[in-house]
Order: sequence, then structure tokens, then C-alpha cells
Amino acid sequence: MKVFSKKSRAASNGGASTKTKGSKKKNFRQGFLSLGLLRKIAPKKNRFAAIDIGNGNIKVVEVSVVEGLPEVTASGSISMPAGALDEPVNEEALVAALNELVLTSGIQLREVITTIGGDKVITRHIKLPLMPEKELATAVRFEVEKFIPTPVSELQIRHLKLSVTEENGEKTVHLLVAAVPTSYIYDFYRIFALAGLTVAAIDLQTLSLWRVFCGISPKPACQGTVGILDIGASTTQFLVVRERLLEFTRTLPVGGKLLTNSLAEYYGFEFQQASDVKLERGRLLSAEEAAATSQEDMQIDFSLRAGLSELVREIRRSIDFYASQEGATPIERFIISGGAVKLLGFCEFLAEALEAPVEFGEPGLPGQPVNETAPEAFDQAYAVVLGSALREVVE
Ligand SMILES: Nc1ncnc2c1ncn2[C@@H]1O[C@H](COP(=O)(O)OP(=O)(O)OP(=O)(O)O)[C@@H](O)[C@H]1O
Ligand SMILES: [Mg+2]
Repeated sequence: MKVFSKKSRAASNGGASTKTKGSKKKNFRQGFLSLGLLRKIAPKKNRFAAIDIGNGNIKVVEVSVVEGLPEVTASGSISMPAGALDEPVNEEALVAALNELVLTSGIQLREVITTIGGDKVITRHIKLPLMPEKELATAVRFEVEKFIPTPVSELQIRHLKLSVTEENGEKTVHLLVAAVPTSYIYDFYRIFALAGLTVAAIDLQTLSLWRVFCGISPKPACQGTVGILDIGASTTQFLVVRERLLEFTRTLPVGGKLLTNSLAEYYGFEFQQASDVKLERGRLLSAEEAAATSQEDMQIDFSLRAGLSELVREIRRSIDFYASQEGATPIERFIISGGAVKLLGFCEFLAEALEAPVEFGEPGLPGQPVNETAPEAFDQAYAVVLGSALREVVE
């Protein structure tokens, strides 16, 4: 962890990092998806912070581990400034938003774990004959060349062993491979440093979701074959977990923005106005509710349906794709999270559309952020960031 604490000093020294490109490279190499090693050599820490830069909102949480049990000590969220993530990224707006979020949430740490947006990282599941680690890294790079047009020299590539199977004496390793353009990671480190923050590690959203819903404790919801759907503003993370083991992951290019656009189109509203109506008045009605409600509520429900059909179509396509994989077992139920699932009536709607039980994800941690409208319930928009904060806590 030495490298990180050094950088931490540089960052707190007025924000701008004075490091050379070479040391920066070393730094993010160690940070990006470093999985087991650091945990073994790092001094035992008991407080962790994570930031999720989502397309719709930036979220932060801080977790303390008290007598082995994690509890959330601070959290907060801020809207993503309009267009800030468009190319080229609006660095100034992002730094200002990060500064404000750190101040208002009251997190104590300045070293954070973060995730790369679902649309920026390319992940694939590959199977290779079991081989020594060094050879595996070379074989993975070779495989990546086949599915990403960008030269591998311009990518940061990491792999995670999910399982090893044996058939007729031949061992096969199932890998989750992630690749991100190196330039994007440089941008990430720079923006965080400018906001006075050090990136301790960059996590994968799918791993964060597995951790928060199936990793922290053996929850009954994770028994059997379970689909997890985190539906954000622009992307949806889809995972299949079988007997608590991560089996399949996919990023879908759809999210709550589809519903806002559909509402905007129906009423002829600007995006922001449509978003306000969705948040304040949006509700999906069951057949019984529709029969006993106002004309206005029925129209809002109707205006959301075009976006919903597209969302469900994409989700179904991914479920079918998973089902076509060798050895796939039928998904018994779904756990849902992400801001978009907070739309009233969404859980019931999805259960009907997928013809399977659907339940909200529940980390069950003391102090976890709660929904503004239903304070007894976990605020689903925090699932990814909470999972990232648990990165050093859950093996
Ligand atoms: N009460 C609500 N009703 C309906 N939609 C909601 C509600 N609250 C939030 N949303 C929607 O949730 C989305 C934001 O969720 P979230 O913060 O999980 O996304 P994100 O992580 O920023 O995006 P992405 O994962 O695509 O990068 C937006 O589309 C927003 O309109
Ligand atoms: Mg998200």
C-alpha cells in the first residue's frame, strides 16, 4: 500500500499530483483490479470509501468495520453535471461535483475505491486450458486481440479466475476478462487527484454487485441460480450467480433514461422536465390500479411504456443469451437495484414481464442509505458503490 499513501500525500498537497507519468503508470497498474495480493500485504484497515461515477449520479459511501462487521458511516449522491461525461470529458465540472460531494457527504477518507462505468470497460467470459499464471496472462492478451479492435498495447487488461472445471482429465479455467483504454484510466486518476482524492483501486461494477448482494453473507436470495440486474441511467449490469458463484456478466446499453425519453416524447417535454415528472409523478399501474385511477396517472403510465418495452427487450435478449451458453441453468429469480428500479410499480411490472419472482436487493448493513420516499428500504442507487466499498472486506 506504500505507493498509494505516497500518492495520497501528493494529492492532499493542493490536489495536483506532481508524479511523473512512469510512477503514475505503476500506481494504476497496482490499483486496477488488484484482487488478492494487496489484501494480504496491506496493513489491516477498518475504514473504506468508494465513489461510483454513474451516468446519472455520482455516489459515495464510507464503511467502517466494527468487530468484523461492516457498517455505513457516511454516504451521499450528486447529479452528474449535464454532458460532463461526453467526449472530451468536462474535467472542471467533474472535479467541482466531486469536491461538493466529498464535502456534503462528510466522508473522512481521501483514498477511495472507484468503478469504471459499464459503458467504458469491455468484459468477456473466456474459457482456456488451465496453465501457469504467466502463460495465462499472455493467452488472455491474445484472446483480447480477437474481440477488441484497439491495440492491446493501449489497453489495461485484467483477468479474474471464476472457476476451474475438469472433464476427461483436462482442466479448463473460466475467466472474467476486463479491458479498459489506458488513456481513460489516466484521465480517471487525474480527475480524482485534482479533487484531492487518491484512487486506491478501480473495481468492476459486476464484482461490486456480486459482493453487496451475495458476498457479504450467505443470503437466502443468492441460493440456486439468480439473476442480478442493476438498472442505472444509461446502462444495466446483468449478472448470473449460481450457488453464490459469479457465472455470467453483461453490460446492456439501456437504463432509466429510456423512460425519461419516452415520457419527453409523449408530452413534448425537454429531458429535464420529463425527468422531474418521472421522479415526482412516475408510477406503473397494475390492471386493478389502472381501473381506479385518474386520467393523468394513466397517461403518465402509458407514456413510460415505450421506454419500458425497449428496456425489457434488451434484458430478455441477455437472459436468452445466457440461457444459450453451455451448462446454463434456468434463472429462478431476480434481484434488482440501480436508481431506475425506484420507479413505483417497477418491481411488480418486471416480475410480470420476466415471468419470474423479482425482489429488491437488500445488503442489510447498519447505516445503509435509505430511499427518500420509503425510509425503511435500502436506496437501490447505492448498490454498486456500497459493493465497491466492501472490496477489502469481502473475500
Ligand atoms: N424515484 C425514481 N423513479 C424513477 N426513476 C428514478 C427514481 N430515482 C432515480 N431514478 C432514475 O434512476 C437513474 C439513475 O440511477 P443510478 O444512479 O443508479 O444511475 P447511474 O449509476 O448514475 O447510471 P449508470 O449506471 O447508467 O452509469 C436515472 O435514470 C433516474 O431518473
Ligand atoms: Mg450505475
